[in-house]
Amino acid sequence: EKGPYDHFMLKEIFEQPDVFRRIIEARMDEKGKVRFPEMEMSNDVLGRVGRILITSAGTSWHAGLVGKLYFEKFARIATDVDLSSEFRYRNPIAEGDTMVIGISQSGETADTLAGILEAKSKFCRVLSFVNRVDSTIARDSDAFINLMAGPEIGVASTKAYTAQLLNMLFFSLYMSGIRWITQKEEREAIFEEIRKLPVKIESILARAEEIRHWAREYIGARDFIFLGRYYNHPTALEGALKLKEISYIHASGYAGGEFKHGPIALIDENIPVVCIAPKTEVYDKMVSNIQEVKARKGKILAICTEGDTMVPDLADHYFHIPAAPDFLTPLLTVIPLQLLAYYAAIERGCEPDQPRNLAKSVTVE
Ligand code: F6R
Repeated sequence: EKGPYDHFMLKEIFEQPDVFRRIIEARMDEKGKVRFPEMEMSNDVLGRVGRILITSAGTSWHAGLVGKLYFEKFARIATDVDLSSEFRYRNPIAEGDTMVIGISQSGETADTLAGILEAKSKFCRVLSFVNRVDSTIARDSDAFINLMAGPEIGVASTKAYTAQLLNMLFFSLYMSGIRWITQKEEREAIFEEIRKLPVKIESILARAEEIRHWAREYIGARDFIFLGRYYNHPTALEGALKLKEISYIHASGYAGGEFKHGPIALIDENIPVVCIAPKTEVYDKMVSNIQEVKARKGKILAICTEGDTMVPDLADHYFHIPAAPDFLTPLLTVIPLQLLAYYAAIERGCEPDQPRNLAKSVTVE
């Protein structure tokens, strides 16, 4: 079943262009409208949503952090994101016009399930994004959206994460249509950019060897730091989580703006710092972060946009991604970080599909 790949994780990373093609085809109709045929929630109900609360865990929580940015940008709905394990115990304020969204690849995560049941007890509408439509979370929600990533076998979530982002982007556009926030032409322009994603991901995967070199060079590092801002702050968190769970190298992700408030003290010549710095609205701020790392002799591993010369000049290593609108960059920048985690595990002799102490679905607290 792994085909030409040594591990499910690598196979699933490389499946992402096809997963994207499948989702794009399913979500966009010929008339340029977004569709979610499996979602049993009427436009009437959706039109009355005044606030969104997202509850999820681990990688799905990182997806929720990006989802918040999409829901706020495109649907103009105030959105909060909570870790499921916190949400369920803090008696969250959730009123009638609040919609609670659960995000779960497996659809079986105990804390996320408890969170949506808590939301239902408060009479909130519950929509979940799941990769398993026969799961408990799908069944116990008012409606669900199928992530359509296909079965994810590797313990580390990869294609389900990008499928979560893409489906939430489509859902935010769907909501913006219902609420008359974006015009048809504007949505068309966004669709055009979304259609380009599979080929862009392919161009990243074709250069996987470059990331393997990074892994080889830093195999001995004790810690890694990941820095990103705005749409790529969640990418920094996700890059760090992926690396630690698969390669057992300690890693932390931070928002670039938080760097000066503590983490900068960690920088010396031994620490690799992965700086996620594509050309976006916050590019200059990320360049400042890179200069701060450089001044303290940290090793800079940069993810930047094709054609950029400033970041490659400052960095010890750089990997470029194709240019894309700001809000689509997290769908591209995370791919090299998935590869970094995978190759770091391989180079260190770890088994990526069965990381120690971890299970694919966490059905107990
Ligand atoms: C990390 C990973 C976990 C899961 C988390 C939630 O690679 O896979 O952090 O994301 O256990 O799982 P789901 O999405 O199934 O609720």
